[in-house]
Amino acid sequence: MTGNTFYITTPIYYVNASPHIGHAYTTIIADVLARYHRLHGRRTFFLTGTDEHGDKIAEAARKAEVTPQAYADRISAQFRALWPELAVTQDYFIRTTDANHVETVRRILQKVHDSGDIYFGQYEGFYCVGCERFYMDKELVDGKCPQHETVPEHRKESNYFFRMGKYQDWLIQHIQDHPDFIRPERYRNEVLAFLRDPLEDLCISRPKSRLTWGMTLPFDDNYVTYVWFDALINYLTGIGYPDGDNFRTFWPAAEHLIAKDILKPHGIYWPTMLKAAGIEPYRHLNVHGYWNIEKSKMSKSLGNVVRPLDLKDKYGLDPFRYFLLRDMVFGLDSTFSEEAFVQRINSDLANDLGNLVSRTMTMAVKYTIGRVPEARVAVDEDRILWETASRTIAEVEAGFAEMAPHKALIAIWEFINVTNKYIVEREPWVLAKDPANRGRLETIVYHLLEALRITSVLVSPFMPGSAAKIQEQLGIADGAGQDFASLANWGGLKAGSELKRGESLFPRVELKTDQARPESPKAEVPPIKPEITYEEFEKIDLRAAKVIAAERVPKSSKLLKLTVEIDGERQIVAGMGKDYTPEEIVGKTIVVVANLKPAKLMGIESRGMLLATDTEEGLTLLGFDRPPKTGAKIH
Ligand code: MSP
Repeated sequence: MTGNTFYITTPIYYVNASPHIGHAYTTIIADVLARYHRLHGRRTFFLTGTDEHGDKIAEAARKAEVTPQAYADRISAQFRALWPELAVTQDYFIRTTDANHVETVRRILQKVHDSGDIYFGQYEGFYCVGCERFYMDKELVDGKCPQHETVPEHRKESNYFFRMGKYQDWLIQHIQDHPDFIRPERYRNEVLAFLRDPLEDLCISRPKSRLTWGMTLPFDDNYVTYVWFDALINYLTGIGYPDGDNFRTFWPAAEHLIAKDILKPHGIYWPTMLKAAGIEPYRHLNVHGYWNIEKSKMSKSLGNVVRPLDLKDKYGLDPFRYFLLRDMVFGLDSTFSEEAFVQRINSDLANDLGNLVSRTMTMAVKYTIGRVPEARVAVDEDRILWETASRTIAEVEAGFAEMAPHKALIAIWEFINVTNKYIVEREPWVLAKDPANRGRLETIVYHLLEALRITSVLVSPFMPGSAAKIQEQLGIADGAGQDFASLANWGGLKAGSELKRGESLFPRVELKTDQARPESPKAEVPPIKPEITYEEFEKIDLRAAKVIAAERVPKSSKLLKLTVEIDGERQIVAGMGKDYTPEEIVGKTIVVVANLKPAKLMGIESRGMLLATDTEEGLTLLGFDRPPKTGAKIH
């Protein structure tokens, strides 16, 4: 943040795998930050997107037997569709295949080439396809890439290089002059340690003979650039570099958010690239740790990927957002455990915050005439609430300023606990027995309602849905008293506004272990069912069906309502919504069990069932090598 502007970015995610909890974590933090700064009335820009060029994507597309562009379109759409489901409010979703991005990258390459910082040379070394970069011998662990634990390929080729080494001293100086340029400190130290050795130049191209899925260099048609030179520049394209008003406004306030896996490209390549292109460095690089699953890395090949929508569907969106931000100390690794998640829901959300809201609202409605009362008889004992509130607000501000959102949450929960204790100590139910205490009783209720208002504003970046529900109950849903400015003084809640008791915010939950755990590593082939006769099989009428329309079922992340053509049109509700977007599924010819008894899913009739199977990336629909006639019988 600088002055009144804030610019936050997430990494742009590779489209070779579907989104998982790691992507959700970074993007949700970015969203929490964006919402927090908007609450302060700051001009805010939040950028996320997908990284679509390179070997990895080309390889994944080859496996899926589609073109790289079709593959990129498909996975990019999954990311784009996921964010609104997680209440993520990005201002712009960038794709590296976007025409304006291609133009920006080529412009910067040309500029750096013209100034002599890109040259042609020979390279020989070990290349990790997973990381899309060459490794130095000493960086390998037992000859393997430390990130992917795979043996890198030996490659030798002529290529273009960026004179990164030239900027080594400048970068060291910049990091020393700006102690929080890379934070937390452990990652700053890691980058500085890296810079103790001579910095090599960076290979930024690949010959087209080996790879075509990249961006052609503006100064040599036989080469493409991709991966880092391509991807990092998204942070400029997204705000309209070089001439957009957004670029001038937001670049000086640029905050990048990444995990430690891509520290080197962001901590070393990127600032030196910016320097060479004559652009000021970003303001901060904020680096968080890794979510691991039962002590191992989460990865497609280990089959332990945790999908965000599964957790949202089971436990609700706000608890999911809260848990991710509360359970991970920003900068350190964390082990994801569903037990810990459930425990947090029951203790922090159901017990602490949920109870505070329901007790306060019950008393408020019972002891007043259903409106916010006045605080006429405030006494010294009430001080604890205002004092804790103002300390909490300061701690929340500090937590955000030092990029430690978990600290902000810890502070808010202290306030919630102090407020709960205030209820127990003031015993409003005892005062209520004697009408003479009315003034005092109303004052206590006012204090509780005001504490709730402050809590709702403070939690709103983390749990926007729940904050809105609290504010609705307080009768301030129309805007006043919902921003940070309104917290400046105790007493922002206006007497007289109508109170509306709502439903319990966070019901207690139980661990739902069925599909709750991460998929078990390398699932075994399920046992084959008992034999059936051909006659029995014949009873199942399988047909080729064409999907002619598809839409999401409201309030369900999983269900799609399809119109398919078999012997006429019919409606089928299918649980494919996490694996396919409606756009993707329309036009496909699929296999349907046509004589399955109709059933209702979320109140919508479904006549038939699609056939699909599991893959590491989710469900895949059965299809055909050669297109059959619509309605054809499958035998
Ligand atoms: N495309 C590059 C980034 C280019 S940015 C100019 C890339 N993509 S990625 O899909 O691999 O995303 C990496 C990022 O995803 C991490 O830096 C982090 O933000 C998030 N995460 C992926 N797995 C994660 C965990 N297991 N834990 C926490 N975050 C992780 O690298």
